[in-house]
Amino acid sequence: MELTLNPTHQALAYLVSAVLFIFALKGLTHPSTARRGNLFGMLGMGIAIGATLLGAEVQDYWLIAVAGIIGAVVGIVIALRIQMTAMPQLVAALHSFVGMAAVLVAIGTFINRQQAGTLDAVLMGELSAGIVIGAITFTGSVIAFAKLQGIMSGAPIKFAGQHALNALIGVLTVALAVYFAMTGSVWALVLMTLLAFVLGGTLIIPIGGADMPVIISMLNSYSGWAAAATGFTLHNNLLIIVGALVGFSGAILSYIMCRAMNRSILNVVFGGFGTDAGGGDSAGAVAAEKGVKSASVEDAVYWMEDAGKVIIVPGYGMAVAQAQHALKEMMELLQARGVEVKFAIHPVAGRMPGHMNVLLAEADIPYDQVLEMDEINPEFQTADVALVVGANDVVNPAAKEDTASPIYGMPILEAGKARQVYFLKRSMRPGYSGVDNLLFYQDNTSLIFGDAKDTIEGMVSALKGGGH
Ligand code: TAP
Repeated sequence: MELTLNPTHQALAYLVSAVLFIFALKGLTHPSTARRGNLFGMLGMGIAIGATLLGAEVQDYWLIAVAGIIGAVVGIVIALRIQMTAMPQLVAALHSFVGMAAVLVAIGTFINRQQAGTLDAVLMGELSAGIVIGAITFTGSVIAFAKLQGIMSGAPIKFAGQHALNALIGVLTVALAVYFAMTGSVWALVLMTLLAFVLGGTLIIPIGGADMPVIISMLNSYSGWAAAATGFTLHNNLLIIVGALVGFSGAILSYIMCRAMNRSILNVVFGGFGTDAGGGDSAGAVAAEKGVKSASVEDAVYWMEDAGKVIIVPGYGMAVAQAQHALKEMMELLQARGVEVKFAIHPVAGRMPGHMNVLLAEADIPYDQVLEMDEINPEFQTADVALVVGANDVVNPAAKEDTASPIYGMPILEAGKARQVYFLKRSMRPGYSGVDNLLFYQDNTSLIFGDAKDTIEGMVSALKGGGH
């Protein structure tokens, strides 16, 4: 039995998918609707794949089936094994696939259409756009992956004349794209493709440290534009719509994150800001000499159990320690004693947008107790305790006070304004930006050393064990 969709029905199915993708994006704007959003997205993708497979242009299902099975197995294994903390590099790797797919589809289309003698300038212009954006996305994402995975240094790599070199490669690439569109020259195509691959690398290497999240969402946006360009090449409306959705949402996310860090996108792309991830012990040694107070679990519990308000500031270390469930238990014990408990979320806390919200939602912490930076900041001055759980950069007053600091200008959570500040961390090592935290040295600050989950579990048993 021959089962093929005619173009009208296929277009209708694509329209339904596009609408579902829009509902998916809408759902993903809040943790409480994110699951539903994901379901819409999966349904939309299922319909899109089904409608494409049933299209008249598919001639042979064998290769598609083999590739689909291999892809599905790899995808399932990765999805089951991936740690939450490794999501940013996974996202970078997936963007590189989109970029490479755009390049390969464009080159394949060029070969087909050349053989059929149906090349024209408009098509070759579209092919150039797909190849250039796809190639930049590919190498840029591979470098971002290597930096985040620790395969190469996360620090910016800078050299004299870098911007001039990038500008030169950019201009040459565009000139070759125009020449290719006008003449169909194969050597122009090859050279343009190679230069675009190089440009993806040279654009990303000077970016590092705390700017990586912005770059990931920018590459996300590029991958959307690469898909949209492929959509034009293949005359596939759904790819154009989805590519534009991804392109714009990635661009908007980059803008929101830049604003959260008080930086312009040009400053991120051309600034080369940020230091090596993780920092070193030298900062710790210096800090220890400066005399940082350390405290015990019991000290903190003593302050918290009779407090009026406790604000918890989660950060990347909470994700590493997987302390969210223990935090939920501690929150309930404190609330049972009449303590008001709130969570303060910085827009770039953790290693990906919404990282903290996802983990807190996983532990069923009510959304109305989880507040964004602008809402919670005025509340720190009325809080008895700020409990900083594996966060560092997002509460560092150097961002406000030290004009020479690389994080100067980034808005922070004002944890230092609480009566008592407790940091839960394992060592004196700095956070992601590698910058020493001035809040460690404030009079009302103490550090409780150890894994955040162990420390919180200690607090839970102290709270269960009865008062002081
Ligand atoms: P960070 O400044 O990176 O600090 C994390 C802290 O967690 C460190 O001080 C670390 O200290 C501690 N830690 C690690 N493992 C721990 C464990 N098992 N138990 C207890 N503490 C632990 O984190 P943040 O405040 O969330 O700031 C985020 C930073 O990452 C910003 O600079 C941001 O720009 C950057 N960034 C963000 C994103 C996105 S989109 N959110 C993506 C990439 C980068 P010890 O080692 O001493 O324990």
